[in-house]
Amino acid sequence: MKVGYIQFNPVFGEKGRNVKTILKLLDEGVQQGSDLIVLPELCNTGYVFRSKKELKSLSEDVPEGETTEVLATFAREKRVYVVAGVCEREKGKYYNSAILVGPTGFMGVYRKAHLFNREKIYFSMGDSQFIVYDVSKAKIGIMICFDWFFPEVIRILALKGAHLICHPANLVLPYCQTALLGAAIQNKIFIITANRIGVERGVRFTGGSQILNPNMKILSKSGKSEEVKVIEIDIKQAENKKITEYNDLWSDRRLDLFHPLITWGENP
Ligand code: ACM
Repeated sequence: MKVGYIQFNPVFGEKGRNVKTILKLLDEGVQQGSDLIVLPELCNTGYVFRSKKELKSLSEDVPEGETTEVLATFAREKRVYVVAGVCEREKGKYYNSAILVGPTGFMGVYRKAHLFNREKIYFSMGDSQFIVYDVSKAKIGIMICFDWFFPEVIRILALKGAHLICHPANLVLPYCQTALLGAAIQNKIFIITANRIGVERGVRFTGGSQILNPNMKILSKSGKSEEVKVIEIDIKQAENKKITEYNDLWSDRRLDLFHPLITWGENP
């Protein structure tokens, strides 16, 4: 299976221009043969909102909004799966969301569970369950940027059978790209982080988008410039939860000791 990410610099408030850029870069990903492409967080609007008025004018319904419709049409026509961060509105609330579209069109939306810093002023906390989707030969889960700081998110998705985490991001702190090496090995899972670049309203984003394999290997790593990256991965690597002849990632977990501190998750 071929998977990839797009790292670029969305322009705040210029939704039409951003969507045009996204379509051009997605097309490059399709030409490289990608089955699945991950875009950054809030990639249609930009990140640094300063008022509810801005949110009102830039947010969209999902799936009826223009960005979702355009990306769903692209995905249907090119027979590709796309995960993209979008600014969603529903019933007077705003969500920092990510949509999944594919050959059948719109497939689902994930609303960011853990809001970072001033996002808390403007966005509502996500109410999505952590859902695993069938995408080509893989099962994928979605989290958005700061969600990474809460290891339960990847753990739950891995326990539900995800081979691959799609991680749209607008990272500003220096920890994530290194910390996720631990998450990859601790869950024996692939992680694609699609980060943005540039400076927006004084906030600098860190770039460094990456693809990690279940053995903590960095399969791809970007710098701080625009990039469309596509690589081949063997999704089956994420099905092997053996660590040694005598150790298994799931069945070795001491649920008898974890309980009742952690009540979720049976051994699959
Ligand atoms: C972040 O969650 N955008 C840092």
